[in-house]
This record gives sequence, structure tokens and C-alpha cells, in this order.
Amino acid sequence: MGHPPTGAAALSYVMTNKHEVPRTMGQQAGRRSWAEPWKIKMVEPLTMTDRPTRERAMAEAGYNTFLLRSTDVYIDLLTDSGTSAMSDRQWAGMMVGDEAYAGSENFYHLETAIQTYYGYKYLVPTHQGRGAENLISRTEIKPGQYVPGNMYFTTTRLHQEMAGGIFVDVICDEAHDPTNRNAFKGNVDLGKLDALVKEHGADKIAYVSLGATVNMAGGQPVSMANVKALRTWGDKHGIKIYLDATRAVENAFFIQERETGYAGRKIAEILKEFCSYTDGAWMSAKKDSLVNIGGWVAVNSWEVFEELRNLVVVFEGLHTYGGLAGRDMEAMAIGTAESVQDDHIRARIGQVRYLGGLLEKWGVPMMEPIGGHAIFLDARRFYPQLKQDDFAAQTLAAQLYLDSGIRTMERGIVSAGRNAKTGDHYRPKLELTRLTIPRRVYTQAHMDVVAESVKAVYEQRESVKGLKMVYEPKYLRFFQARFEPL
Ligand code: F0G
Repeated sequence: MGHPPTGAAALSYVMTNKHEVPRTMGQQAGRRSWAEPWKIKMVEPLTMTDRPTRERAMAEAGYNTFLLRSTDVYIDLLTDSGTSAMSDRQWAGMMVGDEAYAGSENFYHLETAIQTYYGYKYLVPTHQGRGAENLISRTEIKPGQYVPGNMYFTTTRLHQEMAGGIFVDVICDEAHDPTNRNAFKGNVDLGKLDALVKEHGADKIAYVSLGATVNMAGGQPVSMANVKALRTWGDKHGIKIYLDATRAVENAFFIQERETGYAGRKIAEILKEFCSYTDGAWMSAKKDSLVNIGGWVAVNSWEVFEELRNLVVVFEGLHTYGGLAGRDMEAMAIGTAESVQDDHIRARIGQVRYLGGLLEKWGVPMMEPIGGHAIFLDARRFYPQLKQDDFAAQTLAAQLYLDSGIRTMERGIVSAGRNAKTGDHYRPKLELTRLTIPRRVYTQAHMDVVAESVKAVYEQRESVKGLKMVYEPKYLRFFQARFEPL
């Protein structure tokens, strides 16, 4: 990459969570170029399409990028979930899958990897993150209890609600402002937690649901100071802290870069310290852990583990495979170890920043500071002529596809869904379009193509009108909803 290194080595500043993050603005002067810590061994050809083909495909897909066929997509930034390139070692691991129904050797490799890098005692594998969310929600939520979290995630909140929980957002106010440049916008506001206890009592709180980094806030990190303070708070009230560890390695990178005292520490050490302040975690290994499928839930309490193990056989499969093949668990064990390498994570977030730096330079409105896994365009400022109910972020995702065949995802009012009680839309402050970067998949040249397409769409922004929803599924509507142009 012709882009400066990021991370501890590149730091000329050390920040606490009160500090603001300086802008990247593409290239910084006076630095040597720096490249990905891997080379390409196998390639997958891409298809390029012309505008009439894309117009047809977008209309057939009901202006929902989830409903496109992937062969109609040129650069796929829909998600970083399950879309990573595995290493040669991971592929080699696939060949030593032990496909025994019970007691697969690969399970024990995975268990050791999670104990080594995340530090939890007991592991239950699941087919992916939402399988783990289902198990932990059913185990730890009593109907009518509140589940405070640092912003919601779509599948997480749904499982909490389906278990009878009531989600309450306790993220710091800064997280809802796309122009605020605070270094740790994922932090929980402990004042909001105190208010919740005061109003309902500690017994009415199931646990704190802590996401690191916070996907819907733009991939923003939680500071070590914040998770430590949460631990103290939880101990005081007898309330557990559970971590959504899906992108906790990326979170560790931001702590290393920004938090006093962590610049010289390894990512692996920081991750383990972070997890040590929590009672357990659920994981979509399809992100940080560099696999195409897989997840887990891990805890320190034997009693909770027993209940998870009881439930996993109902919903996923036996407790030593959890809906996965042995080979999938082996790839996950190896990917987990690769994911905490300092070089890997610096290149991964460095690529996100390379793209973001170009867009910053051209004045494209986006969520700031740039987070871990994606660039989130701020559709409210992109299309000030559109109301939120005109689905500005959904419109922007459609326009980007029409321009160049790049696929992105809405993270605004459509993703937020409806309040089950009132039936009204949730209206999040953030109306964002996510350009999500798969790990180890695209090159810097792909990022240049993406940036130029965003610029072209930005230059045509004034003529754009919104969308209306013509079909709405009951659950997680963003996946299958259909739209028509206004
Ligand atoms: N938690 C977070 C923070 C996530 O981002 C996801 C998935 C999940 C849990 C659920 O995991 O997909 O394996 O069942 N996020 C994907 C995304 C889908 O595109 O952001 P899953």
C-alpha cells in the first residue's frame, strides 16, 4: 500500500478517551510506502457490467443490494462477514477436518485457541454469531428484564427481544453524532446505566450487552478504561457484562493506537485483557477470525455453560460441533491465531483508512473518525433534500451500485426496523451507507475505483430522489425489503 503505516509504530500522538482523532486525509508526507503482509496465491475473476445491465439488475432486486445476484456485482462491499480470504494454512487445516459426530479433534483445537486468545474458560461452538446470540439470550434473559447495550445490532437486539428482553441504548451521546471525532465513541455512558438501575432496580437488568467495536456506530471502539469501569459497576450491582466479540480484535488495535499505556503492548495481550473484564462473549467468527462460517459463545461460569450446552443441542448441534463441520472449526482455530497478529490488523484497518482518506480529501460526508471495518457515508448530509422516510441511505446504496457495480449496505432506518409495541419505525439518528471491507480480499487499486465512484455519485447528488418501501418482511426487514423509486 502506498499508504502510511497505522498503529503504534506510526504514532506521533497518544490519546486518552477525551481526545479527538486527527483526520487521515489520504497520504501523509514523508513516510515510506507500506504493504499488506501477504501475497496472492489464488484469484477469483470479477465481472464488470454496463449501466443498462445494472439498472435492470437493481430494479429486479427491488433497490435492495441484498437481493442482487453476486455475479452482477463488481466490487462487493456489502459486508465483511464470511467474505474474508483464508490463508494457505487455514485451507490446509480444512483438509484435516475430523468429522466425528462427537469429540472432534478440531473442537479441542478451537477450544484451546479461544482460551488462549480470548481467555474464557468454557466454549460452545455455533454455526455463526446469531446462533450464539440465541443461546446466550435464552440463558441469561428473563422475560421483562432490560438489556442495556452500547447501541443495538440488528440480530443481537432481535434475539434479546425474542427472549423477552427490552433493549435500552446506553452508548455515549457522541456516538450518535457523525461529525464528533472522539477517540472512543463506542463507550458506554455509565450515567445512563445508573439511571436504569435507579428506575427499575438491578434485578430487572439481565446483563450489559457490550459490543466492541460498535458496528452500527461506524465501527467505533470502546476504551479499556470504559470496560474496566463497567466491570467495577457490574460488581457493585451484581450485573454481568457480556461482550459481543465479533470485532474485538479491531477494538484492540484502537486501544493500542489511542489509549495511554497501550502503545507498546501486543494486540493479543490487549484483547485478552479486554475480555478479562467481562463474564463471557458471543462471537461471529465470520469477521475478525477470518473464516467463511462459524461462531461461538464462551463463558467463565460453569452453571451458565451447562445451560448453553443444554440449549446448543436443540438449536445448533452437539456441543462439540455446534452446527459446523470439523474442518470449519479447524479453519476458525487457525484464523483466530492469525487475526491477533499485529501486522495483520494494522494492514486491515490501514486499508479501510486508505479509502476513507481519499473520501475525506474530497469532502464526502461520512461517519468520523474512520472506524475498524468500513467507511460509513452519512446519507443525511449526502442527500440533504431527502427525508429519513425517503430512505436516504438505501437510495445511496442503490446509486453506488448503478454508478459502478459496487455493492454496499444500508445502515439507517431500514436496518433499525420497527418498535414491536408501537409498530412505528425506529428512527435512528444515524442514516448511513456502509462500504464494508472484506479482509485480505481487495487491493489498493480496488479502493481507488470505489473512491472514484463515491466521488462521481456525490457530484450527481442534487438530482437524486428517494425510494418508497413496497414490501416489508416481519423480521430483519433490511435483508428482503423491496423498494421503488419515488
Ligand atoms: N454482532 C455483530 C456486531 C455483527 O456485526 C454481526 C453480524 C453479528 C453479531 C451476527 O453474526 O452474522 O454471524 O450471525 N454482522 C454482519 C454484518 C451480518 O454485515 O455486519 P452472524
